Amino acid sequence: MANIFTRAATGVMDWVNARAPALAPMYRKHMSEYYAPKNFNIWYIFGVLSLVVLVNQIVTGIFLTMHFKTSAAEAFASVEYIMRDVEWGWLIRYMHSTGASLFFIVVYLHMFRGLMYGSYQKPRELVWILGMLIYLVLMAEAFMGYVLPWGQMSFWGAKVIISLFGAIPVIGNGLTEWIMGDYLPSDATLNRFFALHVIALPLVLLLLVVLHLGALHEVGSNNPDGVEIKKGPKGNRWSPTAPADGVPFHPYYTVKDTFYVCLMLLVAAFIIFFAPAFGGWFLEHDNFTEANRLVTPEHIKPVWYYTPFYAMLRVVPDKLGGVLVMFGAIAILFAVPWLDRSKAKSYRYRGVLSWALLLGFAFSFVWLGKIGAGPGTDPVETIVGRFLTAYYFLFFLTMPIWTKIDKTKPVPERVTTHD
Ligand code: HEM
Repeated sequence: MANIFTRAATGVMDWVNARAPALAPMYRKHMSEYYAPKNFNIWYIFGVLSLVVLVNQIVTGIFLTMHFKTSAAEAFASVEYIMRDVEWGWLIRYMHSTGASLFFIVVYLHMFRGLMYGSYQKPRELVWILGMLIYLVLMAEAFMGYVLPWGQMSFWGAKVIISLFGAIPVIGNGLTEWIMGDYLPSDATLNRFFALHVIALPLVLLLLVVLHLGALHEVGSNNPDGVEIKKGPKGNRWSPTAPADGVPFHPYYTVKDTFYVCLMLLVAAFIIFFAPAFGGWFLEHDNFTEANRLVTPEHIKPVWYYTPFYAMLRVVPDKLGGVLVMFGAIAILFAVPWLDRSKAKSYRYRGVLSWALLLGFAFSFVWLGKIGAGPGTDPVETIVGRFLTAYYFLFFLTMPIWTKIDKTKPVPERVTTHD
């Protein structure tokens, strides 16, 4: 029996090969002959997990689109219809809303891994830049998606965030009106956000992800030791010319990644079935009420993944200043490959100073997130928020200095797990 299947599979492959001979070399380059360092640890699973969540968002999004009504008069009711009347609609919708938060969880961990192991350093600057572009598009994508159910927080969130453009001198007001297509978020806003959310931005996102992986596979993966395996000795049991410290991505890492994908799906299932709103963090309570332009929610706040930046916006007393600080906080991340001057890529071989500052950075980001999720009325919290914002910027602005003066440990010639 197995023989019949093997023969059939080989037959199909031969048939495809004869007609598209470029496919097999592509498969070899990116899978079976992509030699990834053999010392990957758990931090290296988040790229693949992001890919899985991306696919989930696209597939569930297609099914949601089949039943969603793109109009301010009908959107909220159509989401209720999906939840109550469409077969398995509740599951599809919760897979999509939980997927959005999971996306940011895995992407933030993926980015932190990059910072920790210096994955943005030469020759991977482009991989980092493309990653940052993905992050920007992802933020826009999630923002527009959140507006679609036309709940209270969709409407008021859109109003607050789009109005920020009003702080830009001269063109601000015109720009705000142009983005909304009206003086307030309205049917026109919903329609254009729908177009951008379901087709334009996902296409850009997919293209960027392909470029991100293409750029990575040109130079090869970094690893927790920050050692370039391509510069090390050659020859392993699969190929005499491959890096000695590399293993074929398939099947070695596909098997490992599959295990973690299952683990993530288990966690996701738990959230979807038992706590889909996640205490108001993944779906805010106010968004279960239809948008009403005459009633402002008591406390307008974005979803958790934006709150660190929202906190920065709020603690700056001036509106334009706040907007500049908020966008500056994202923009500065693009420059990291040129701010870091350390001789050692990975923090494994950096000193206490680097570690202390990096952990301080992670801590300040999370704390800012907590401040941004609060009502913003506590003056002490505002002062704390200003210090944390200053720390955030100083961490990056002084990076050329502290990465230079921090004492590094000798970086090994080969990855530490070689035999
Ligand atoms: C949709 C979002 C994203 C997807 C699907 C994605 C996918 C991947 C995959 C599959 C890898 C190889 C496996 C791994 O190293 O984990 C990777 C590597 C990498 N990604 Fe992403 N990524 C995304 C977003 C980002 C973002 C936002 C950044 C940072 C700004 C980033 C920076 C990097 C870097 C620097 C590497 C190389 C890491 C190394 O070799 O050590 N990625 N990405």
